[in-house]
Amino acid sequence: MSDAVTLGFAAFTQAKIDPAGVLLVFCDEALKFGPATAKAIAPAAALVARAAKAERFTGKNGSTLDLIVPEGLRVARLVVVGAGKAATLKGQDFVKLGGIAMGKLPVRVEQAAVFAELPGGALKADGAADLALGMVLRAYAFDRYKTKRKDEETPAKKRSVTVAVGDVAAARRSYAEREAIAGGVVLARDLVNEPANVLYPEEFARRAAALKKAGVAIEVLDLRAMKKLRMNALLGVGQGSAHESRVVVMRWNGGKKNDAPLAFIGKGVCFDTGGISIKPAASMEDMKGDMAGAACVTGLMQALATRKARVNAVGVIGLVENMPDGKAQRPGDIVTSMSGQTIEIINTDAEGRLVLADVMWYAAKRFKPKFMIDLATLTGAIIVALGHEYAGMFANDDRLAERLAKAGEATGEKVWRMPLAPEYDKLIDSKFADVKNTGGRMGGAITAAQFIQRFVAEKTPWAHLDIAGTGFDSRQSDINKSWGSGWGVRLLDRLVADYYERW
Ligand code: BES
Ligand code: MN
Ligand code: ZN
Repeated sequence: MSDAVTLGFAAFTQAKIDPAGVLLVFCDEALKFGPATAKAIAPAAALVARAAKAERFTGKNGSTLDLIVPEGLRVARLVVVGAGKAATLKGQDFVKLGGIAMGKLPVRVEQAAVFAELPGGALKADGAADLALGMVLRAYAFDRYKTKRKDEETPAKKRSVTVAVGDVAAARRSYAEREAIAGGVVLARDLVNEPANVLYPEEFARRAAALKKAGVAIEVLDLRAMKKLRMNALLGVGQGSAHESRVVVMRWNGGKKNDAPLAFIGKGVCFDTGGISIKPAASMEDMKGDMAGAACVTGLMQALATRKARVNAVGVIGLVENMPDGKAQRPGDIVTSMSGQTIEIINTDAEGRLVLADVMWYAAKRFKPKFMIDLATLTGAIIVALGHEYAGMFANDDRLAERLAKAGEATGEKVWRMPLAPEYDKLIDSKFADVKNTGGRMGGAITAAQFIQRFVAEKTPWAHLDIAGTGFDSRQSDINKSWGSGWGVRLLDRLVADYYERW
């Protein structure tokens, strides 16, 4: 994150504001301010009231009112952000409001102060920390390859935001956890945004290995190790690439000794040309993001380790590049997966499920996890079904599915459950092998899920998240303006925090 914003907390009375800076404040639906805010903007109170009337600003949640060089205040700009019905606001609402506030801060501004306050004490330390999280997520931009920029788009060299609060110590404590989460989201976004000439499997593995610093144990499986394990389904996908494939195992042990870990599995296709079943040229550049599942798992592992989550977790990612080549896998080829099941390749563009087949089998066999959740930009069909708002969720376990759905509602990273049923299985029965890797156009996301279900070992409770519509190029939101969204880090962190850290 090249244009990072430094964020700090200060007491209301101590928050200094640069005369060239911006002051951001919140009001409710009655245009009321908290006491510290009212005091700070008192010299401009009449001006704010007149401006609100002129602009028909009523403090509706998410609306904003801008005052340039407000008479009586030593700031360049005052922004009032409406919070609506203050008493009803929850965590995610504050995250969003933080994003909206940050959106009102021109990138060239060096310093700003945000008064994290609402009338009636509706915004406490946790709310202030949520605001700060939203601000950091919104401020992210992937611009490391921009060497020229228009004046107004050029960020200030140093940007800092002071979050003014009542209880500084409590806000800092509350923010520490969210800072870890934000770091995980930012890592995931960076990985997804990075082009495939830079981020190929070995480079991805190196970046994952940097999680050692946070206390994550790292193992990288190279070709020899994968061959020994007979991961032929994964290896077949990567065999047409000049870049070697890798599997990375990331382990965080913050829980009880010998407690079975939670397992997170990611599809990491660093670039998906389709292989011999080559994709059309239009939008193929987007396929640099076909490793968004692996990026999410990596970001999540960093977040869990950084906030020292009281849980044992393992992340396993399968990293390959799917290329057409003289050595590439062909339609009609049959491979024997690590599980022993044979797979007939019908379409080399259905490669994600081949990677997952071996990585999921390996993870369940080796770690015997409490549950296994895989994330994959797996099918165009899930985008047709759900668009870019919800990720598709398939699960063999109702409790896990319900928990994921709840964590989705709480974080705004929402999942919608799709069916699994034996009736779909016949669509992927093969003439020559145990299973084939495509089931036709109809129900394409379901037959893909049905395929990977055959590689869930040990009757492990399992959920599959098809994030083709949410991992990249998704809806731009108040807290994300990045192509690579980092989707899933907040969802899964929340799942872990709410259900697996209390013991
Ligand atoms: N990576 C793609 C799925 C995808 C498409 C993700 C668009 C994000 C945006 C996946 O590997 C793929 O090519 N799937 C095929 C499967 C088909 C050949 C059975 C698809 O969805 O068309
Ligand atoms: Mn593909
Ligand atoms: Zn793919």
